[in-house]
Formats: sequence, structure tokens, C-alpha cells
Amino acid sequence: MVANWKMNPQTLKDAEKIFTEIAKASKQVKNASVVVCAPFVFLSDLKKKKKGTKISLGAQNTSSEPSGAYTGEVSVGMLADMGVEYVILGHSERRAGGSPNDSINKKVLITLKNKLTPILCVGETLRSEGESYLLFVKKQLTECLLGVPKTQMKKIVIAYEPVWAVGKDAAREATVEEFTEMRIFIKKVLADLFDAKTAHDVQVLYGGSVHPDNAWAFLALGSADGFLVGRDSLNPKKFATIITSADKK
Ligand code: PGA
Repeated sequence: MVANWKMNPQTLKDAEKIFTEIAKASKQVKNASVVVCAPFVFLSDLKKKKKGTKISLGAQNTSSEPSGAYTGEVSVGMLADMGVEYVILGHSERRAGGSPNDSINKKVLITLKNKLTPILCVGETLRSEGESYLLFVKKQLTECLLGVPKTQMKKIVIAYEPVWAVGKDAAREATVEEFTEMRIFIKKVLADLFDAKTAHDVQVLYGGSVHPDNAWAFLALGSADGFLVGRDSLNPKKFATIITSADKK
């Protein structure tokens, strides 16, 4: 269960407050691991708060380069040193800013090399009537996973986030059926790229307007392995309900 705080909250005090409440809720949950992907600037303080909790820390991006003259960038080595275990890569809000598949691919490879877990986001911008939305996601998977050895695939988490269902301005929510179809399709693409066993073992999360009232259905009926949650991960009460749905599956 991954919390994607995006560019929120605005103060460290609020970040620590939300984190502490999520940590409390996580203790009650048996069937889920909880990852909080916070803005870079909060990570080292949250690392201190993390002790004794069940929460893992995640970042929302990394540089594709190991070090050097890249003003404003943060390397995956720095993240590892800070106790970060997961990195969201290829989020649609970053893709919209011009992050192409080949750059995301470099980030996936360097993240694996540093022994962190990439949470690779894929998802179509538009849900067309034909099959073009499937081919769009196939291209993202194929290009972003280029050169990843089969043995490393179990270290990658895929998050399917249809762009039209993400954020407060989302056109509409995705249905469980739409997720299920895409989940099967993602497994098929992975089976073709790697093999059936690898495809079977990869976890596929759902993201896009996940809230307390739709979480259970995606898990229980849609076989989602978990969620990438934006807005409702900043509301500890709602996020607690979402993560607790893993125990009711
Ligand atoms: P949302 O964001 O839950 O606010 O739709 C999800 C995401 O962008 O990861």
C-alpha cells in the first residue's frame, strides 16, 4: 500500500503528524506492507520517525545518473543512504513534464542496481474504443523495462494508473472490470517479455482516485496486489480504511 504524497504537505510538522498517524494505523494491518513516498526534503526526518513502525520510505523520483553536475537532481545513492527502499518512477505527472520511456528505463536500471524497489507507473492518457490504450501501455512496459534481467523482475512493482482517473480533476473513476482487463494484459505483456512465472510473480497495484469506498472491490474482485494512493494518503483516517481493506479481502 503506497502513499504518494506528491508535493504535500507544506511543512515538516504536518508531514510528521500524518506519518505518525499512518504508522499507528499500519500496526493494526496484517496483510499489507505500507510505503510512504514523501517529498525528498522530508525523508531524513521521517527516517527518524520510522523506527519501530512497519512503514517503509519511498521517494517520488530519482535521477537517472549516479552523481555529478546535475543541478536540482537527487541520486538514488543519496536515497539509499537515507533509508529509502522504494522509488516511484514514470508517474504520469512527471511524464506530462516530458519524461520519456527511455529516461524512465535508465532510472529503473539504476534503481535496481542500488537495490531499491522501483514502483513503475504505467497507464494510458485516454481510454479509446479500440485497442490503442492497450498498445500504449504495452509500449510503456516494453520500453521502460528494456534490459531488465528476468531475475530482477520480482524486485519491480508495477502500478497501473489510468491518467484519466488520477487526481481531483479526473474525468471519472476506473471500474474494477477496467482494472482487471489491464491487469491481465500487463501479465500477458510481461509473460511475452520474460516468462509466465515472472509475469505471475510481479505485483500489480492500482492507482487513480482510490478511496475508502472503492478500495475493497479493487482488492477482492479485481485482484489488485495493492494501491498507489494520492489524495487520500494525506488523510490518515481515509488511508487507514484503505489499507485495512487488505485484511478484509
Ligand atoms: P489520486 O492520485 O489518488 O489522488 O488520484 C494517485 C496518484 O497519482 O498516484
